[in-house]
Amino acid sequence: MSGTGNTLPIEITVNGRRHALDVAVHHTLLDVLRDDLELTGTKECCLVGECGACTVMVNGRIVDSCLMLAVEADGAEIVTVEGLAKDGKLSPLQQAFLDKGAAQCGFCTPGQLMAAQALLAGNPHPSIDEVQEGLAGNLCRCGCYFQIADAVLSVAEGEHR
Ligand code: FES
Ligand code: FES
Repeated sequence: MSGTGNTLPIEITVNGRRHALDVAVHHTLLDVLRDDLELTGTKECCLVGECGACTVMVNGRIVDSCLMLAVEADGAEIVTVEGLAKDGKLSPLQQAFLDKGAAQCGFCTPGQLMAAQALLAGNPHPSIDEVQEGLAGNLCRCGCYFQIADAVLSVAEGEHR
């Protein structure tokens, strides 16, 4: 299949579901997730890779989806915040954020969760310094950094299963 005009066909798997789409060549992965697939959990904020609100996992690595063209994601396995809960049950990390009060307005939370998920996947028992370093690309204008780190550490310590 070929695209039309300034679009190209891509196939992506998002949260285990395969999608075949024609996407505008200038659209970002963030545009496609939010506008085409209506997965609005991933947030749009600075659009220049500074805030981390748009963080998703692409082939197991965290990516600022505002910086990645959708066509670059062709063939990729993507996980968004909507993919964390299973069978209506929050993931351990989501539950920890809730229990530890790690969200105020919640705008940064999806990106924080995705970055923390990737951090724990690569390092299941991080130190506080490693948590802070791992989440350094995710800004929180509400200043919940202590509670966010506390939530991540509580999962690492097995408090939430
Ligand atoms: Fe992508 Fe801020 S919206 S890093
Ligand atoms: Fe409001 Fe982080 S909880 S920006």
